[in-house]
Amino acid sequence: MPFVWNNRLNTNIRVIDEQHRRIVDYINALEQANLTADRQMIAEAIAGVTDYTQSHFAFEESLLEEAGYRFIKPHKKVHELFIRRIDSYAERHNKGENVGGELYNLLSTWLINHIQHDDADYVASVKDKVEGALIRRQKEGNWFTRFLRGKG
Ligand SMILES: [Fe+2]
Repeated sequence: MPFVWNNRLNTNIRVIDEQHRRIVDYINALEQANLTADRQMIAEAIAGVTDYTQSHFAFEESLLEEAGYRFIKPHKKVHELFIRRIDSYAERHNKGENVGGELYNLLSTWLINHIQHDDADYVASVKDKVEGALIRRQKEGNWFTRFLRGKG
């Protein structure tokens, strides 16, 4: 069963929601690869979801830093531990284990939990502190601006 996005997963921070949806796409690509049982495809899907999740976390952390979010340290720690955990799946796959199904379950349950609890906690802080600064920066045209333009 593919992982289906639902509105309770929205943080209403547009750039974050787009990235979370993209992670869901990668999770579903893993599920598709699992169905083929093609080890090469599964390896690629594992690498894809791991790489994208890692870059999303880095982006999110930079946003939290910008916002002066007071629980950034534990939030970063949660990310770090999770990356370590999903990295071990690639190793196990390379040793010949079939880990695709287990990884799919982990990703889909972990993601729902993380978005609804950990990520939901920073939303107010990001909205309060970052949006004003971002609006001011729109004139400067830096990388943040591109992500936030069109935000309603
Ligand atoms: Fe997060």
